[in-house]
Amino acid sequence: MESSWLETHWARPFYLAFSFCLALGLLQAAKLYLRRQRLLRDLRDFPTPPVHWYHGHQKVFHNDNFDKIGEIIEKYPRAFPCWIGRFQAFFFIYDPDYAKTFLSRTDPKSQYLYKFIIPTLGKGLINLEGPKWFQHRRLLTPGFHFNVLKTYVDIMICSVNIMLDKWEKLCSTQDTSIEVADHINLMALDIIMKCAFSQETNCQINSTHDVYVKATFELSRIIYQRVYNFLYHHDMIFKLSPLSRRFEKLNQVTRRYTENIIQERKKSIRAGTNQDNIQKRKYQDFLDIVLSAQAKDGEIFSDIDVQSEVKTFMFAGHDTTASSLTWLLYCLAQHPEHQDRCREEIRAILGDGSSISWDQLAEMSYTTMCIKEMFRFISPIPTISRELSQPLTFPDGCSLPAGMNVFLSIWGLHHNPTVWKNPKVFDPLRFSPENSDQRHPHAFLPFSAGPRNCIGQQFAMVELKVAIALILLRFEVSLDPTKPVAFMNCVVLKPKHGLYLHLKKLPEC
Ligand code: HEM
Repeated sequence: MESSWLETHWARPFYLAFSFCLALGLLQAAKLYLRRQRLLRDLRDFPTPPVHWYHGHQKVFHNDNFDKIGEIIEKYPRAFPCWIGRFQAFFFIYDPDYAKTFLSRTDPKSQYLYKFIIPTLGKGLINLEGPKWFQHRRLLTPGFHFNVLKTYVDIMICSVNIMLDKWEKLCSTQDTSIEVADHINLMALDIIMKCAFSQETNCQINSTHDVYVKATFELSRIIYQRVYNFLYHHDMIFKLSPLSRRFEKLNQVTRRYTENIIQERKKSIRAGTNQDNIQKRKYQDFLDIVLSAQAKDGEIFSDIDVQSEVKTFMFAGHDTTASSLTWLLYCLAQHPEHQDRCREEIRAILGDGSSISWDQLAEMSYTTMCIKEMFRFISPIPTISRELSQPLTFPDGCSLPAGMNVFLSIWGLHHNPTVWKNPKVFDPLRFSPENSDQRHPHAFLPFSAGPRNCIGQQFAMVELKVAIALILLRFEVSLDPTKPVAFMNCVVLKPKHGLYLHLKKLPEC
């Protein structure tokens, strides 16, 4: 029987397309199979906690299940291979010797985390690698010199007082607890805008800036969802999801916000008014440093580089400190005995707190211990990661091949019972000089360590000390038992539904 027109003209292309897709599918399956075999071989030296056949260990990280991670750390005290689905695995470490070996190298940041951050922050200091990272780091470091930081203390005092005046008004008009995390976010944004960008945005009063803060909050959450959902690792699958459209929209919001700031400064440079402003301030702010580097060499600092650094510093400079201050208040509200001791110390040093000098900040030893214990207990940046560019051998002889993604769990390190006695107890005295003497130098790493440590750590410490001192002088804080706090990991650890505190206004000294 002769074949029909339809068969000769359509059947062959259809079969060809079908065979092509089948071959492609088989090739992909073979690739995944080989990848799994390679990972199993590379990680065979290390004992693994029970793995779910489909999710792997993904559920351990769902709902920010720190109790589950704590249990794993007790059973596997140095590290464990962590499977995300069947075909992707990271190596999770939380031992001080492992951390020291890991951080002494210059491996690039891991694709699984930073790749998902790049669309939001661009390639600024956090995401850059190699000579370009080195150039940017060297150029931006003077912006955090202590002579510059000293000039920020008065700016910080002013921003914290704006927030406290708002709290005072709220206290006098409402009898319930107050959600403080949003206020603290705006206050931290106000500080970074004034210090790094010399921008008087009035953002704590003018609610239009809420959009930026809310966008960064949601963006961080989406990034974290991508990291721990292996389906979203594929750009194609993520792009097809509704999450991706939201992600794009939010990125546009933050891009517009930062672009406005850059354009305004460029305008002021063109109009010749910026030089007077620098003279008034007596220092070049972060934006001056970046833009004068661009003026000298547009190749080192292109327009995109400037955008990326501004986005990076605006995000890193407010989100981390805001979360840290929120958690510090949470810890002190939970432990009134430490709160009282801090307040006594602060009163003895500052009196009514009408001014704070640089030297007075250094005298706050008990308060500093409480801040450090908060960093240990909560660890606002719970994990960082790298992709090994060369094989890595740990001091105990175990090794990992090049290409492996290693996650340093800072939270795990800070809760490792082989390092910290009673890690679930909040005890600031762990950080007294006599109790810290014998501690492994890599046991406490809230700001990481080594060449890629946090450039803003002194800035953050100054901001935290100024803010907590002024808050405790004006208010007694306690938790609202009807609004329990839940953790949410969005790169930076945050309270999922905010932090509700009862604020009791204290009489003026
Ligand atoms: C309490 C607040 C803060 C904490 C806990 C914190 C923590 C960290 C950590 C753990 C890293 C290492 C990241 C990695 O290796 O992947 C880091 C890097 C960084 N931080 Fe912070 N940070 C804080 C505040 C700040 C502030 C206030 C700024 C800026 C004003 C800042 C800017 C940066 C930058 C730019 C990097 C990348 C440095 C580089 O790779 O050269 N951070 N931070």
